[in-house]
Amino acid sequence: EKGGYAHFMAKEIMEQPEAVRKTISPRIRDGRVVLDDLHLTADYVRGLSRIFIIACGSSYHVGVVSKYSWEKLLRRPVEVMLASEFRYCDPLVDEKTLVIVISQSGETLDTMAAMREARRRGGRTLAIVNVVGSSIAREADDVLYTWAGPEIAVATTKAYTTQLVLMDLVGLYLADLLGTVEKPAYEAILSEMQLLPEKMQGFLAHTEDIQYFASRYFNHDSIFFIGRNLDYAMGLEGSLKLKEISYIHSEAYASGELKHGTISLIEPGTLVVALGTYAPLFDKAMSNVVEVKARGAEVLALTTEPFRERMEKTADATISVPETHPMLQPSLSVVPLQLFAYYVALQRGCDIDKPRNLAKSVTVE
Ligand code: M6R
Repeated sequence: EKGGYAHFMAKEIMEQPEAVRKTISPRIRDGRVVLDDLHLTADYVRGLSRIFIIACGSSYHVGVVSKYSWEKLLRRPVEVMLASEFRYCDPLVDEKTLVIVISQSGETLDTMAAMREARRRGGRTLAIVNVVGSSIAREADDVLYTWAGPEIAVATTKAYTTQLVLMDLVGLYLADLLGTVEKPAYEAILSEMQLLPEKMQGFLAHTEDIQYFASRYFNHDSIFFIGRNLDYAMGLEGSLKLKEISYIHSEAYASGELKHGTISLIEPGTLVVALGTYAPLFDKAMSNVVEVKARGAEVLALTTEPFRERMEKTADATISVPETHPMLQPSLSVVPLQLFAYYVALQRGCDIDKPRNLAKSVTVE
């Protein structure tokens, strides 16, 4: 059942190219995003005053990525909130509010309750769900499925990446309805998106360096992920993945916040995973690497192939991923972070598919 892999997590990581392909290809026709199951009119979208994205855990991290990319595409306020916070904060939802809920299982209690609260206040709900016919899918006004297939490992991988690409598609679709995206940009993103499965596949064929870095660093007891913009959003997921299955304390920080407190935690030998895959801010990422190196940090950097050489000059260890459009970069860049967490947990002898105290779907508050 694990298809020859030692763990479901490894199998599911490797299934990502196919899962992403299945999620995007039926929705791209003649160079356009086609979302037949979505019933939002251009007038409704134009009349929106705000958009919320609500979820828990890794699905929430997808929301954090999407806030950055959707606001850029839509020029409308997009607020991302944890479902457990949203449901009790007297949220500002009315008829002009679209509430996107993201859930792999479609059964997460807080997400379900948040969705009901949004509907009660007159908001329209669109669920991004992996499990067909699940409770959230049945109750939402609209539902779009990620076609990741069954995900067994508690730590999500292929559900996360398919949520990311589906949110990118929905963002493009809404931007097209609003007329807020130029044709060349729209086309460039869509054509890069279609290359993602192939690029992911290519990357997954050679992951020996990640295995090696995991064996070099698995004994650290605290690890920091730093990045800006989409790299920061993705760092949240990299950090969660690591702590969830390897039980190493880890935190993700926006690099610009280092000087506001976090940098006091950096001492000689502290491992910092520096994320520098978001091309528009690569120079800023580099200067943060220099800054933590100056405090004695050991830096494991992640960047894209075109920037590898520059990064290698300063970082102690560098992993590079293929480059894609900056908006889509997290769906490729997260893969080495998933693998790093996996190999570190393997070195530490953890129960990878069933980490302690955690359940695949959280149906209690
Ligand atoms: O099924 P959901 O997407 O609603 O689940 C949300 C979280 O419980 C989930 O993403 C959790 O954080 C994962 N175990 C992380 O790997």
